[in-house]
Amino acid sequence: MMETRDAALREMDLSRPAAARIYDSFLGGCHNFGVDRELAERLETDLPGIADSYQENRAFLRRAVEFMLAHDIRQFLDLGSGIPTIGQVHEVARRRTRDFRVVYVDNEPLTVAHSRPLLTREPNAAIIHADIRDPASVLRASQVRQLLDLSEPVGLLMSAVLHFVPDSDRPAELVEAYRDAVVPGSHLLIAHLTDSYDPAAMRTLADFYAESADPLHARSTSAIEKFLGDFEPIPPGPGLVATWRPEPGPRPAPRYEINYGAMTRKR
Ligand SMILES: C[S@@+](CC[C@H](N)C(=O)[O-])C[C@H]1O[C@@H](n2cnc3c(N)ncnc32)[C@H](O)[C@@H]1O
Repeated sequence: MMETRDAALREMDLSRPAAARIYDSFLGGCHNFGVDRELAERLETDLPGIADSYQENRAFLRRAVEFMLAHDIRQFLDLGSGIPTIGQVHEVARRRTRDFRVVYVDNEPLTVAHSRPLLTREPNAAIIHADIRDPASVLRASQVRQLLDLSEPVGLLMSAVLHFVPDSDRPAELVEAYRDAVVPGSHLLIAHLTDSYDPAAMRTLADFYAESADPLHARSTSAIEKFLGDFEPIPPGPGLVATWRPEPGPRPAPRYEINYGAMTRKR
């Protein structure tokens, strides 16, 4: 198992809710504890319908992975993957092909521990315990080198993770390092919480996460777009994630306009 220095420093903490497990609780998964569910329930009381925002984000990830598979992307690096259950990348890929490879990366020890058994029957997927803020270590990890071929296009997934990286940790530089590591034809998905549309809801959400092991740093839509660098946006371009190539059919508008994102391709 590869561990970057920062990932090793993040200790197992069952006394506080953690982002991966709060998310799992809202997705209806079973990899969460009382502290996580208790925060999720209070959050749902203060922001009724907030569960939809979590589902919306995971649905964007699913549509984006399906898009990439349809465009011949067969290998994925999922940075800040959470627990790979309920519609994660390898499940989406497996529905289309056996020819795929996924490396999940997370710095939360329990998330990694819960994920490993879920992946034992999946020879083409692995999870590493590492910190995305250390791109060199992530990209050098043995599982990345064994499973991914960086001379071929890769799908880079940064879904609901960069808002856990404060400005002091220079998120723009770390995203640039990943963008630089992949060849043209690679894709980059970013989904990120924004305070540009509904600052009151975003503040309430951030106040709750301040109690957790993963405080939130929402950003403006223009700050999020800067993470895309010179990658080409895939139409309809950056926007609320629910508006990116939604499934056909009627659906209610997002209750909270906080999930911003884009799918892009390296020219
Ligand atoms: C909200 S979950 C998102 C899960 C998944 N990417 C999705 O969008 O469905 C965020 C995950 O990022 C992880 N995370 C936060 N900061 C990280 C860091 N610096 N390095 C690696 N993982 C991180 C958390 O532990 C958590 O599992």
